Amino acid sequence: MNMYVGNLNTARKIEITPFRVVEPKASISVIGLGYVGAVSLACLSSLGHRVVGADIDEKKVDSIAWGNSPIHEDRLSELLTRGVAEDLLSATTNLPRAVRETDVTFVSVGTPTSADGGCDTRAIEVVAKGIGEALAQKEAFHVVVLRCSVPPGTTLEVMKPIIERHSGKVAGVDFGIGFNPEFLREGTAVADFHEPPKTVIGVTDEKTADVLSKIYEPVDRSPIVTTVEVAELVKYVDNVWHASKVCFANEVGRLCKPMGIDSHAVMDIFVQDTKLNLSPYYLKPGFAFGGSCLPKEVRAVSHLAKTLGVELPMIDALMPSNQKQIDQAVDLVERTGAKKVAVLGVAFKPGTDDLRESPTLELIAELKAKGVEVTAYDPAIEPGPHISQQFEYMRYAAPHLKDVVEDLPVFLKETPGDAIEEADAIIVSQKIPELRSVLKSKKEDAAIVDLVRITAPLPASSDYTGIGW
Ligand SMILES: NC(=O)c1ccc[n+]([C@@H]2O[C@H](COP(=O)([O-])OP(=O)(O)OC[C@H]3O[C@@H](n4cnc5c(N)ncnc54)[C@H](O)[C@@H]3O)[C@@H](O)[C@H]2O)c1
Repeated sequence: MNMYVGNLNTARKIEITPFRVVEPKASISVIGLGYVGAVSLACLSSLGHRVVGADIDEKKVDSIAWGNSPIHEDRLSELLTRGVAEDLLSATTNLPRAVRETDVTFVSVGTPTSADGGCDTRAIEVVAKGIGEALAQKEAFHVVVLRCSVPPGTTLEVMKPIIERHSGKVAGVDFGIGFNPEFLREGTAVADFHEPPKTVIGVTDEKTADVLSKIYEPVDRSPIVTTVEVAELVKYVDNVWHASKVCFANEVGRLCKPMGIDSHAVMDIFVQDTKLNLSPYYLKPGFAFGGSCLPKEVRAVSHLAKTLGVELPMIDALMPSNQKQIDQAVDLVERTGAKKVAVLGVAFKPGTDDLRESPTLELIAELKAKGVEVTAYDPAIEPGPHISQQFEYMRYAAPHLKDVVEDLPVFLKETPGDAIEEADAIIVSQKIPELRSVLKSKKEDAAIVDLVRITAPLPASSDYTGIGW
């Protein structure tokens, strides 16, 4: 808005910022003041929130209440000291009070490995009871957010019922519940908080999503809002991926060393490929890998390692893992009870007629061996001299597929309509958009076994099943 001040001769324009109502920032209790909780507490106070930390460990509480970090973490002491000095940050052993006196509660207690190798959620259960009892004495809407790394279902099936039971309130109505995984790395946790790799908010109601989005707005204006279960599992998947990367790189190192090849030179080049190597490519659940390169070279690397006397358990596990995916597809088809099955897509991927090591041929072979009648269609495979040459190669290179390959000209149909006409189940093994409309003309009760996520959104019908969704 512009405004003029002074008389006609001296008038000058000044800019007036329109009046904005500044909403007070949510006050936040953080339960569990370990590596995650102490950092969250300090960083949230640095964003201007009034925060109350709660822990059963009196020493930790005392230390934090005096503005001292109980752990070694860059810049943590500085933020804690500032939070206390600005009267924004306090700590207590009184959990119910911390909850009652705040609008939002973050739970970051430990979830160690349980005796059976699973996840010990006992601390979450104890805390949930305390939160429930506190909410019973509180009228205002309160948001409870689990931040621990836990198996999917923990927030809604373990924590939520305990809070509801002890508060007499209903989640999504009287209080909000959510899961917000923690992605900070120890050592750079404060810096990561202010520049997060991503912010994931798992919720069941919009109000809770709004409350959490507002808290994270200063550090991330585009949080990813999803379901609670997806948010829970993303954290596990992230960490398993990071562990896989470490083991993969280390196996490359073990392979390189006896050959006198510099593993860092190899991996420096490897990481420069952001199209296929460090990218979303190959990272969507679907069917098994195949073709003329991947299986052959995985086997070659395993063999090379053996000749060098090097153990590569992760790389050695790839072919068995791939076979499991074929077995899974066979199992899904068997569960439909279908006696006649149509397979849409025969080569290992769309746009090629290369049948070498196509996992779909393995799948067809296994189904045929179980007495299932198979028809198939592949837009890239036309009968003719070229395909006959391939058959020669297949007969030689994959003798166990000999019968299937010899039969292929008979059961391979010219159109997808011909292939699915009498099928009780249809397997979609290639992501070809035209197949979506083909599926609409299937027999009414024919099942769809989707290996490539051909449809979006996913059909709710019980006739439809996806291989990994
Ligand atoms: N450390 C990390 O880098 C990291 C990163 C991401 C996620 N996580 C996850 O976050 C959670 C917390 O991890 P952490 O490393 O901070 O654990 P931690 O063991 O350092 O801290 C847990 C804290 O919870 C407190 N506590 C236990 N029971 C309590 C109760 N009933 N009431 C109040 N406080 C209680 C403990 O005294 C301790 O101070 C875990 O689920 C962990 O898997 C950790």
